[in-house]
Amino acid sequence: MGTLFKNGTIITASDMVQADLLVEGEVITQIGRDLPVSGHLVVDCTNKYLMPGGIDVHTHLELPFGGTVSNDDFDTGHKAAAFGGTTSHIDFVIQPKGGSLHDGLTAWRKKAAVAQIDYGFHLAVTDLRPEVLDEIPSLVAEGVTSLKLFMAYKNVFQIDDATLYKTMQVAAANGMIVMVHAENGDVEASLTPKLLAEGKTDPIYHSHSRPREIEGEATNRAAIMSGMTGCPLYVVHVTCEPAVEAIRRARAIGYPVMGESCTQYFFLTAEGDLGKPGFEGAKYICSPPIRTEHDQAVLWQAVKDGTLQHVSTDHCNFWYEGGVGPWQDWAKQYNGGNWVEFEAQDPTYRRPGKELGKGNFAKIPNGMPGLEERMMVMWEHGVNSGRFSPQHFVEVMCTNPAKIFGMYPKKGALTIGADADIVVWDPNLKHTLSVSNTHMRTDYIVYEGMEITGKPVQVYLRGQKVVDGDEWLGSNGSGKFIHRHPHAPVL
Ligand code: URP
Ligand code: ZN
Ligand code: ZN
Repeated sequence: MGTLFKNGTIITASDMVQADLLVEGEVITQIGRDLPVSGHLVVDCTNKYLMPGGIDVHTHLELPFGGTVSNDDFDTGHKAAAFGGTTSHIDFVIQPKGGSLHDGLTAWRKKAAVAQIDYGFHLAVTDLRPEVLDEIPSLVAEGVTSLKLFMAYKNVFQIDDATLYKTMQVAAANGMIVMVHAENGDVEASLTPKLLAEGKTDPIYHSHSRPREIEGEATNRAAIMSGMTGCPLYVVHVTCEPAVEAIRRARAIGYPVMGESCTQYFFLTAEGDLGKPGFEGAKYICSPPIRTEHDQAVLWQAVKDGTLQHVSTDHCNFWYEGGVGPWQDWAKQYNGGNWVEFEAQDPTYRRPGKELGKGNFAKIPNGMPGLEERMMVMWEHGVNSGRFSPQHFVEVMCTNPAKIFGMYPKKGALTIGADADIVVWDPNLKHTLSVSNTHMRTDYIVYEGMEITGKPVQVYLRGQKVVDGDEWLGSNGSGKFIHRHPHAPVL
């Protein structure tokens, strides 16, 4: 017996058609008009859309960072993602300094033991010793085909240009893709102490320490190295015109450069949000910083014209007021040069959050929540507002990330043989986004009060229903590792 999705409208990256869809086991086995019901469980999808499960290739679940650890883990983060219509994501494994890439993988595999949705790993190289360079090709056989390099966060994750160049050479030779956090960390590290010395310690000054130019410069530098090495480059969390223009220029001369932006950069501004009174702006601190309305318009256009291929979240959330974090035995983690050990088994243990940076913006943990809202917010402001078609929405949120990161057509497609990751979307359902109804482990959201029309009502992961309205039906450990393939296309 299979599950037959009847009378729905199927949306793919290329089409929007009324058809039935049959799932048997974990995969889609038939798509067509008036498929026979014959003993199948029928899901009536009248007036509903069927879309591939959303994919978010940029998350940081339980990341040790900024003197603490990000809140959502592979349990809470996964449930929240699924409630928002995301069924697969790729998280960033961090290589511990002095350790190997596989040391990082081992730590992240432990975290993922509770996975509820499907997940992959990118590997962030932080310490490229000769033996680490030699280790890179072995990742491909393990289904890890993307490497990440931070051009910022000096003395924490930042690498130098030689590391970027050498990593790109090895990646290109092995069919891998390199991702960069593109900000000139050296310039940031010289601006920040100056601002603090002038008494400019409020959250708004975070944006002064990381101006648009340092993102544009680093993006351009990485893009040129991509052209020199032939290595596909994917620029993460693009925020502003100088970075978009660097990508556009590189693509125009045939360099294999792609990029994403993240939901928050389309809605928040430095002036309006980072500049909120008191310490409130800390909620919106992420790097690169949120920018201006002009940059938002540039980003919408870049997604529309294909200069940017994906919208992810960079979900990396920290308490605003602080909260109690569960003790995990793997919580002894590398964090910016130190091994941090939390107080074991202490029920009163309070995981630090944004308050770490009261009186010093540079100490505010960087990142914000967004994993749950991504699909709804982009549907409302992308599709409902007429900026792009439902097909383009699916292309950007589901299909392109699967193609770029070597998971297509198993993921990101509603096609015969694909994993039955299916979102039943009610385009008429109205909902108000609020911290009071979120599933993320957070004490604030950045879209509080935003009204949206269009929302997942049921979500299926490899044929299993995991979300039914407000009910969670998935199970601990039901998420599987996505073994990705190399030599993915450049879009
Ligand atoms: O502020 C951010 N973006 N935090 C997460 C780490 C990163 O740079 O992606
Ligand atoms: Zn980053
Ligand atoms: Zn990130």
